[in-house]
Amino acid sequence: MSSIKIEIITGYDERLIAQLVELQKKALPPHMQITEPATYYKEGLQDRNNINVIMRDRHKVIGYLLGIPQSNVYEELRHWDPEMGDDPERLYLDMIQVLPEERRNKRGLALIQTVCAEAEKRNLFKLSMHARTTTGWSQYLQNLFADIRFLRQIENWYDFGEPCDYLEATTSLDTV
Ligand SMILES: CC(C)(COP(=O)(O)OP(=O)(O)OC[C@H]1O[C@@H](n2cnc3c(N)ncnc32)[C@H](O)[C@@H]1OP(=O)(O)O)[C@@H](O)C(=O)NCCC(=O)NCCS
Repeated sequence: MSSIKIEIITGYDERLIAQLVELQKKALPPHMQITEPATYYKEGLQDRNNINVIMRDRHKVIGYLLGIPQSNVYEELRHWDPEMGDDPERLYLDMIQVLPEERRNKRGLALIQTVCAEAEKRNLFKLSMHARTTTGWSQYLQNLFADIRFLRQIENWYDFGEPCDYLEATTSLDTV
């Protein structure tokens, strides 16, 4: 039987924050490391309007996804993507990460499936995201969602020094 568990979480304890900080050190490339990761995860986890998806293998955190209502994030993100607008009915996928040794095993897919199901429970049927292009992730997402639109490419997203595609989708997935 699989020991992998996926949960939607609100709230945190210091142990979880330490595990997420550890996860991101390994999962995010150096140019994408968050400057103050503990603060980022605490803010994400304490807001009940967000969707935090945690994947564990026994006690080890191996994956994480954060969805934030677009209304709560667009003003900050406009700095990098001036065309980003308010949409109270859209969930923005702010972060997804999986440990390197766990990748290409549909862990990312499972995180996405979980956030879509939870968003639908909350009557949110629209998503948006800035997806990396150099890893094939944007293309993968464009094939995965039944109804997804590429709107634009941001050349230097978040000062990462690499492009990301701004995509909008509904929560229906093409593949299972
Ligand atoms: C993006 C990420 C979460 C995907 O996790 P995953 O567990 O590998 O996801 P899945 O196995 O469900 O599917 C990954 C798909 O994305 C594509 N992909 C993602 N990263 C890839 C890479 N480095 N090389 C090639 N293809 C990649 C592939 O199409 C792959 O599907 P396939 O294995 O069926 O060919 C993981 O690669 C990661 O944590 N990357 C670092 C952080 C990051 O870039 N986050 C996205 C920010 S927009």
